[in-house]
Amino acid sequence: RGDPRLQGISKAIRVVPDFPIPGIMFQDITTLLLDHKAFKDTVDIFVDRYRDMGISVVAGIEARGFVFGPSIALAIGAKFVPLRKPNKLPGEVISEAYVLEYGTDRLEMHVGAIEPGERALVIDDLVATGGTLSAAVRLLERMGAEVVECACVVGLPEVRGQRRLDGKPLYILVEPR
Ligand code: PRP
Repeated sequence: RGDPRLQGISKAIRVVPDFPIPGIMFQDITTLLLDHKAFKDTVDIFVDRYRDMGISVVAGIEARGFVFGPSIALAIGAKFVPLRKPNKLPGEVISEAYVLEYGTDRLEMHVGAIEPGERALVIDDLVATGGTLSAAVRLLERMGAEVVECACVVGLPEVRGQRRLDGKPLYILVEPR
């Protein structure tokens, strides 16, 4: 907080009213990716925070957790594990259902992607209700991982203020505009 880079990150995220349905102010991170400084600042902030925390797994949530997760994983010397929407992963999976702001869905993870006792970071672009992140945490914990923190680029003020999600620390860079 108070990091001068956060304002540039916030401004680089386009807000699209009524997408994908009326009443939703969609936070579009594709414009952040077009802004090299803002994109790099975003990854750098996460890398600086997580590089010395003994994290061996970065788990990214489909789809936009795949945009930020791998860069962070490479920079901190961790592996990247995709948490995917149903029926996308070809191997044996475990699955967790969750309720979304608009609908319900499921996340899946490959069995064998992580070893019990590994320290994991969960990354996504945005947290709203926290349902998606909670399902991700449940998947990792079922595999015996220790979830060190969940991190998102954007989070609602309510959830950002809490700084926790189901007892797990939650780290958020900016609030929706
Ligand atoms: C969005 C966002 C998070 C989730 C957050 O994904 O990228 O993954 O919603 O919502 P929650 O905190 O209320 O659970 P979306 O469902 O739009 O899926 P997509 O990334 O596949 O488009």
